[in-house]
Amino acid sequence: MLDVIILGAGAGGGFPQWNSAAPGCLQAREGRKAKPRTQASLAVSGDGVHWFLLNASPDLRQQILATPALQQHGSTRGTPIQGVILAGAEIDAITGLLTLREREPFTLMGSPSTLAQLDRNPIFEALDRSIIPRIALSEGTTVPLLLKNGAPSGLVLEVFTVPGKAPLYAEAEGTKPDDTLGLSISDGQKTMLFVPGCAEITQALKDRASRADLLFFDGTLWQDDEMIRTGLSPKSGHRMGHVSMNETDGPLRQFAACTRPKKFFVHINNSNPVLLEDSPQRQAAEQAGWVIGEDGMRLKTEGPS
Ligand code: MLT
Ligand code: MN
Repeated sequence: MLDVIILGAGAGGGFPQWNSAAPGCLQAREGRKAKPRTQASLAVSGDGVHWFLLNASPDLRQQILATPALQQHGSTRGTPIQGVILAGAEIDAITGLLTLREREPFTLMGSPSTLAQLDRNPIFEALDRSIIPRIALSEGTTVPLLLKNGAPSGLVLEVFTVPGKAPLYAEAEGTKPDDTLGLSISDGQKTMLFVPGCAEITQALKDRASRADLLFFDGTLWQDDEMIRTGLSPKSGHRMGHVSMNETDGPLRQFAACTRPKKFFVHINNSNPVLLEDSPQRQAAEQAGWVIGEDGMRLKTEGPS
């Protein structure tokens, strides 16, 4: 079984963002045809009991409180969370690790460059390495995801690099090839892909997506210059390391022929008009076969592909 929960479908800053009075954020605050979203993360399980987090968002505490499957039952302390797999070292992907600092063992996995960012920042030493081992994932290898007691979880993980960008706070160092990962998780029959950041949709990524059953993809912006045009930020999507939904090189067109997986947008920025339930852009994305991810959505799939 492959059981997936969208813990958060928003991009960095969430929706509404704390300092924004843009029309979409005002609507979300008032609950007017726009649902709030926490920052992007998924939980994945092979049995509905033991869970792995894909990214640890700054909203993780709130996400656990909203998700009974991730809460401890029975003995005094503990957690169903067995591991955290990081797709990158952006602030919105790693800072939730600090929420997990209560001496609970779990496994922490990421690319060498992502783990190097944690290693150099002493605040993450609050996660005691003797009970929270850091495991570097090398590209192209398939590793079984193990439970804390060493038993198989029923899931296997494959990581692959995607074009991306150095984390915001480390841009001066330049982008490394393993800064941005896609995560592929399979129960042996069904496969899901998590790609919350992607600067270019390559043929290899399209081929991979065509074989998957569930695709959770970078939904940061609708249009590359939308934050510039609306006066929210001087940055384009490409400057931030993201393709944009409705551009020629974006997912609506590039994955149009990729009809096998159920396709979800996650990591949706607060400026993106698809967040507004009555917008023409929302309608266009849905007509193109995409689901605009929402916090709390759960997809359970099993059986032969
Ligand atoms: C991104 O995905 O581009 C980053 O999360 C941006 C940010 O941290 O503000
Ligand atoms: Mn982000």
